[in-house]
Amino acid sequence: MKILVGFASKYGAAKGAAQTIAATLKEKGHHVQVFNLTTTPQPLADEWEAFIVGGSIYAGQINGKLRGWVEKNETLLATRPLGLFVTSLAAGEKALVYLESSYPPSLLAHAQAKGVTGGIADPEKMKWLDRFILKKVAKVSQTKDTRDPEALRVFIDSFLKALS
Ligand SMILES: Cc1cc2nc3c(=O)[nH]c(=O)nc-3n(C[C@H](O)[C@H](O)[C@H](O)COP(=O)(O)O)c2cc1C
Repeated sequence: MKILVGFASKYGAAKGAAQTIAATLKEKGHHVQVFNLTTTPQPLADEWEAFIVGGSIYAGQINGKLRGWVEKNETLLATRPLGLFVTSLAAGEKALVYLESSYPPSLLAHAQAKGVTGGIADPEKMKWLDRFILKKVAKVSQTKDTRDPEALRVFIDSFLKALS
């Protein structure tokens, strides 16, 4: 199947998840392409048979360009197999709240796979303002890694089930 994996990522966590997802889907014989949804031109959606979309959370929000692409293609995405995920330092219930607020309700209801896969923040690799906010607001001044490979695996498995 021809699958688009779209992501928005500032420092690489969501991109890494997208790449892991793509590699696993390719191993299963699918034709997969990974797109950064924050760059121009954005990919056309109608030539793809299934979609995975995921992005990172900053101050409680997913990237606006990712959100715009999803809203523009909402009708089409609602007719194809769909996986939605977010990466954030928060896990569990709080991360689920982020997921629910990041995507349109119709797509959340339709998606066969929904994932909160954790995240990673390394202050040393950040622009000073991000480092400053992370320290002041989240009290994080050293690398914090909440990435959850098991959650990612379950997410990919749910998506693969929807394709079969
Ligand atoms: C300025 C800033 C704000 C952030 N806000 C949140 C937040 O509101 N909730 C959260 O759980 N994580 C927050 N994070 C952590 C990121 O979501 C996490 O590092 C994520 O994995 C980054 O993914 P990316 O590298 O793909 O952009 C924040 C990080 C920074 C630097």
